Amino acid sequence: MRMADIITKKRDGGVLSEQEINFFVEGYTKGTIPDYQASALAMAIVFQGMNKDETVALTKAMMYSGDVVDLSQIKGVKVDKHSTGGVGDKTSMVVGPIVASCGVRLAKMSGRGLGHTGGTLDKLESIPGMSISLPIGRFIKQVNDIGIAIIGQTADLVPADKKLYALRDVTGTVESIPLIASSIMSKKLASGADTILLDVKFGSGAFMKTIEDARKLARTMVEIGDGVKRDTRAILTDMDQPLGRAVGNNLEVKEAIDTLNGHGPDDFVTLCIKAAGVILVQGKVVSTLEEGEALARAKIKDGSALNKFKAMVKAQGGDVSYIDNPSQFVVSKHHEEVYADADGYVGRIDCLEIGVAAMQLGAGRATKDDVIDPAAGIIVDKKVGAKVSKGDKLADIYTDVDAVSYQPVIVDIQRAFKLQKDEVTPRPIVYEIIE
Ligand code: URA
Repeated sequence: MRMADIITKKRDGGVLSEQEINFFVEGYTKGTIPDYQASALAMAIVFQGMNKDETVALTKAMMYSGDVVDLSQIKGVKVDKHSTGGVGDKTSMVVGPIVASCGVRLAKMSGRGLGHTGGTLDKLESIPGMSISLPIGRFIKQVNDIGIAIIGQTADLVPADKKLYALRDVTGTVESIPLIASSIMSKKLASGADTILLDVKFGSGAFMKTIEDARKLARTMVEIGDGVKRDTRAILTDMDQPLGRAVGNNLEVKEAIDTLNGHGPDDFVTLCIKAAGVILVQGKVVSTLEEGEALARAKIKDGSALNKFKAMVKAQGGDVSYIDNPSQFVVSKHHEEVYADADGYVGRIDCLEIGVAAMQLGAGRATKDDVIDPAAGIIVDKKVGAKVSKGDKLADIYTDVDAVSYQPVIVDIQRAFKLQKDEVTPRPIVYEIIE
């Protein structure tokens, strides 16, 4: 087999065989196929797409390119939850404890933030002492003992995706449904859970800009999951404004704690309750979504979800006193307010601009080696639909970078709030559930 033939076949709209896909993934992982050929194939896939069989074959080839975690020693249904990435997305820190407090076992391997999207691991690491790199044996024991663990992916999980994703990131080949679906699902399947909930985001802060594309991506991933007999469902959720109010690592942990204490922002609470409801149906704890949502609300109300979060933090070495008393979290040197420059209604908050602004304040990484400032970030004060007058506060910013660097960021944040004359009805946070 020759890589050049595989590239031209896909370029001309052909359907690749399982053998050709395996040849590519194995060769690229081993280093016998160079980056330039892999990027040519990725670009051909961006333009020509892949059918269902090709996408499943690509997912499986990537899944088996490294370690496949065996979670069979964990009793009962093992659930993983994954978000396609957003701004202010701290959902796992709330949904995980809720479902674990209902008896479902959440065994989650998570990623770090890159670019404008945050990552759960960075957020959890802003809790002093918290470790996200547990050996697999300890991970399994923790899930068996307390029902929940969230850790980083092991070094050899899906090496094909590590290489291919880094290449796609710099060759304009990220935005392709078969490539995104196989990248995400190969990691989820290799992580070993038998039940998966995918939160597929769409809007200015997401890879998928439209609901139609988000639906296609969600359906593709659900089909891949079904193809390998894992109960996979997806929710389509809005990312046309930051989720909740907090964007930035310890700011988001504090918002997650508030939410577990029953004081979360409406959009975030709605999403968490819906996601937990779906997982509780998948985990066969309840038989309808309505029952699942009611149970999820009850677990917040009676404090069991918060206690489960504390149990996870404690088991992973974190200092639980920060959860009891979040005012202990480190705060930034500088705090500034961002004001509206006109009257109107907030029509949209550009998530990409907010995500990039948070990164520039120190909350994210522009390159893999950047060090994150746990306290930096943005608190969104006015959400979509709010009526504002010129001079009203739109947001607070927190940062350690110097004033010369953060002044332009304040202007960017002000511009991210798209004000309009007419009243606005905010879009629902959860659009659709795909089973
Ligand atoms: N997240 C992933 O893990 N892979 C993609 O291709 C896009 C988002």
